[in-house]
Amino acid sequence: MADFAGRVVILTGATGGFGRAAARYFADAGARLVISDLGSDRLDALAQDLGGETIALSGDITDSQLSERLVEKALAQFGQLDIAINNAGIVHEMAPLPKTPVDVARRIIDVDLMGVFYAMRAQLPALEQRFRDTGETGAIVNVASVAGVVGAPMLSVYSAAKHGVVGLTKSAALEYARRGVRVNALCPSFARTPMAEDFLDKAGKDRDAAEAALVQAIPMRRLAEVDEVIAGLVFLADPASSFVTGQTLQIDGGLSAA
Ligand SMILES: NC(=O)c1ccc[n+]([C@@H]2O[C@H](COP(=O)([O-])OP(=O)(O)OC[C@H]3O[C@@H](n4cnc5c(N)ncnc54)[C@H](O)[C@@H]3O)[C@@H](O)[C@H]2O)c1
Repeated sequence: MADFAGRVVILTGATGGFGRAAARYFADAGARLVISDLGSDRLDALAQDLGGETIALSGDITDSQLSERLVEKALAQFGQLDIAINNAGIVHEMAPLPKTPVDVARRIIDVDLMGVFYAMRAQLPALEQRFRDTGETGAIVNVASVAGVVGAPMLSVYSAAKHGVVGLTKSAALEYARRGVRVNALCPSFARTPMAEDFLDKAGKDRDAAEAALVQAIPMRRLAEVDEVIAGLVFLADPASSFVTGQTLQIDGGLSAA
């Protein structure tokens, strides 16, 4: 297990599939957490479950002030910010581009792309300030998707939003390469989380066929397990990965190598 003792970590989408697993990992590794998600009940229950030094602040990531409040909380409660995991996200139902409703497309861009922009806009100055004050470097991990690296037929707007996240990641990494902040993007293919289960359930009686079709595109012919994705997330966040910035890490069973 990597050592995150005393590190202060902001984590969004904390009650989801990847979020819960990441929260548990960081808490067990000694980090102090500021967790966020939409609903306060599940979030408060998670904070209680994690125990130790965890603060919960619920809200919608499309509200830019939420990101500012999360950074303020970290600084007020713990006096520092070391790591931010921008993980909150949504996916739309599969549809050809011309059949994707405009309001759905706008919401996807708002949550998946603007949400990460607001988050980094608030986090980067705080991480840079810590570096100036103490020499401690910080890290941002944006949870994008393999659909942010290669095209995703029937998921065009999701793919566009995640490509946008990769663009934000690489650009911020270049801006902050000598300012004490590493910025990387995690790019998983489908993994067994509530998002993926819900997505497959919407295929109705064709659920098994939908899963088989998804898996067919993956050289390893299976979905990812959550822990396999969290291993990559931890690698990017780990202070030991001190020369890794501006990268996309595909955890995709070989999909993007084809
Ligand atoms: N599961 C996969 O197969 C997969 C693959 C590639 C990328 N991803 C990405 O991983 C991230 C986490 O996904 P997951 O699979 O854990 O999904 P999930 O649905 O289990 O969790 C996502 C979390 O984000 C929260 N969220 C959604 N909209 C929000 C908003 N507007 N404001 C605040 N929080 C919001 C949800 O409440 C949820 O708890 C997402 O960014 C997703 O796009 C997932």
